[in-house]
This record gives sequence, C-alpha cells and structure tokens, in this order.
Amino acid sequence: MAYPYDVYADLRRAAPVSFFEPTGQWLISRHADVNALLRDRRLGRSYLHVATHEEFGRQAEPEFQEPFWRVVRAGMLDVEPPVHTRLRRLVSKAFTPRMVESLRPRVRAIAGGLIDTFVEKGGGDLIAEVAEPLPVTVIAEMLGIPEADRHLLRPWSADICGMYELNPSPEAQHTAVRAADEFAGYLKDLARERAARPGDDLISALAAIDELTEDELIGTCVLLLNAGHEATVNVTGNGWWSLFRNPAELVRLREDRGLLPTAIEELMRWDTPLQMFERWVLEDIEVGGVEIPRGVEVALLFGSANRDPEVFDDPDRLDVGRADNPHISFGAGIHFCLGAPLARIELLESFGALLDRAPKLELVREPVWKPGYVIRGLESLDLAV
Ligand code: HEM
Repeated sequence: MAYPYDVYADLRRAAPVSFFEPTGQWLISRHADVNALLRDRRLGRSYLHVATHEEFGRQAEPEFQEPFWRVVRAGMLDVEPPVHTRLRRLVSKAFTPRMVESLRPRVRAIAGGLIDTFVEKGGGDLIAEVAEPLPVTVIAEMLGIPEADRHLLRPWSADICGMYELNPSPEAQHTAVRAADEFAGYLKDLARERAARPGDDLISALAAIDELTEDELIGTCVLLLNAGHEATVNVTGNGWWSLFRNPAELVRLREDRGLLPTAIEELMRWDTPLQMFERWVLEDIEVGGVEIPRGVEVALLFGSANRDPEVFDDPDRLDVGRADNPHISFGAGIHFCLGAPLARIELLESFGALLDRAPKLELVREPVWKPGYVIRGLESLDLAV
C-alpha cells in the first residue's frame, strides 16, 4: 500500500482482469478497461435500482448501519439513473465552469490568507494549515455552514470515509455510522432553518426545491461537503510530496510558472488520490477476454490506470509539462466528478501562491502516509520556508 505502483505494473502485464480472493472482486488494472467500464451502463455504483440484496446473493447491511446508508444512498454518487440524473441536474447548476470561475477571487483570497500565515510562521504542517482549511472553507461557504460549526466537518467526513476502506473494522464501522447520524442531524436542523429564513447559499437553494426529499437534501449536502474537500486535501499533500521527491521537476515548475496547469494534472495522475472505485456488474460482461457474471463487483484500479504505458509515455516519470494526460483521477461517465472545475481552481491557486510566496520551501522530514488504501493521503507534511 505504501507504493502500489510496482504491483499494478505486474497486474497490467500478467493479469489485467484478475479475481482477488480476499475481497471477492475482479481487479481491473488497464486504463482502457477502467475507462470503458466507468462508462458502461451494464455496471452501476449500486444494484438496488435493479435487484434486491437477496437477488444479488448479498446480505442486507446490519441494522446498526442504517443511519449511514440512509445518508449515503440519498446522494447522487450512490444512485443510478433516473434518480441520479434528477439529483445531478438539481445541483449541477452551482458547479458549472462559469459559476465556479466566479468563485476564483474568493478562493484566491482564502488561499492567500492561509499561505501568508504559513509563511510568516516559517512553515509548519502544510496539511493542517493549508491543504485542509482551503477546500473546507470554500465548500462550507458555498453551502452556508456557519463559521463556528466548520471545525465539525473534517472529523465527520474522515469518520464517514472510514467505511470506504477495504474491510473496515467493527470500530471504524460504528464510528462512521455515528458520524453520519450526527452530520445528518446537524444538517437537518440547518436546512429547516434556511427553509424558514433563506440566505444566499446552496443549502437555502436546495431547501427551496420541492422535488428534493429531506433525505436527498441531507445526502446531497453530506456528499458535497465531504467530496468537496477530501481528495483536494490529499492532492495538495501528495502533490507537494511528489515535487520534493522529483526536485528537478520542482525547479522546472519554479522556472516556468506557465507549466502550473499541466503540473496539477500530472500530480493528480502520478500519485492518484483515490486509488480505487468499485462497480457492481448488473449484466454479464466480458473484459479483456474474461467473462464476468452479473452480481459480482469489479474494483477499478485508478492508480494503475494512471500509470498504464499504453496511454502515458514513460508513465513512472513525473513530468510537470506532460501535455497529453488523459488521467482518470476525476472518474469518467455519468458519475464524473461534479467538482472537478472547482478542485482545479483550488489547486491552481494554492500551488501558485505557495510557489510565489515560499521560493525556498523545503521538506523538514519524510512524511507518513495515512493508513488506508482507497483514499491515499499524508498524515502531515512538515515544511520550512
Ligand atoms: C482533486 C480533487 C477531487 C478528486 C480527485 C475527485 C474525484 C472524484 C471521482 C473519481 C468521482 C467519481 C467516483 C466514481 O465514479 O465512482 C467523483 C465524484 C464526485 N465528486 Fe469529486 N473529486 C475531487 C474534488 C471534488 C470537489 C471539490 C467537489 C465539490 C463539490 C466534488 C464533488 C463530487 C461529487 C458531487 C461527485 C459525485 C458525482 C456523481 O455521482 O454524479 N469532488 N469525484
């Protein structure tokens, strides 16, 4: 897990579609297959729109997890059309490239403020001081979460994400359920308040839509708040750590700031923040000559797809000027990341400001990865300016 890329290379070469006993899933490691399956409507993030748990040979989740699934399954990421189409349409207006572009000055101001403080102090932990607060503040402001409550978001999100790791422990499951329940309760109160006294924020806008049930409203807000920062935090940390491990590329970027847009895409490719997404097989399929029957799950290895030599020249090389970079880090198909334009603005602004204001930024100590495989990120990243 510390460095999965060599194992991925073996898989792509020797067994690009292989059954993985410990999780009972088919591992898909080639870019072409991952990309095709993400777009293939014979697979889904859920099967519950076409079959019951029993029909898929699965057991319903244990009763105690009900508050968790109630929140998660009400958001667009865990449903399929037609519900997905409806939910995504209701929210997507707030995330068009044009809408998001209008947020750029505010994103720049928040990033600038955080980075000025970081630089004045002579550095510190980039994760806690810049990488986390920037996207959390941006998405919390968009939704209209009062400033005094924002400290609650990060722990709730981290606890909820614990359920997405492979085989979460019973303790991690209970923690995730408790967090989902508390988060939902908090948002329910806030949404009712905003329905009564609307403000100029996304929760007020969503609360005014009759078409949205209360569960869907809560599920949507939890999804936006969590997805709206988790991966961005990790791209910031993993990205800087990648630059420190490839100092010639950092120098190249410092000398040619015009490379920043391609550099951000390359950092997202080279050390992929979300390593794997799963899909249920809803109809029999064939992938690379292998028959995969209805009812099983495939694990799409994004980290592997992003290092596939069939698509990327010299894929293990970090190249901040890489022009042709169809990385898959934002997904593909109907669930393609809704927040991609926003994430890109946040990353461009924070990397840009840090390059400008900390020309001598250096690593204090080698960072430690957070435990976990699916969500790949650093515990902390101690830097000096
Ligand atoms: C660099 C940061 C980010 C990365 C790498 C990322 C990655 C992804 C990926 C891979 C998916 C699709 C998952 C799948 O197909 O199973 C996704 C979906 C989503 N992302 Fe992001 N994301 C990022 C930032 C954001 C931000 C800032 C938002 C802000 C709102 C956001 C909101 C969403 C939403 C709502 C979905 C669900 C879309 C749907 O189901 O139609 N993401 N993201």
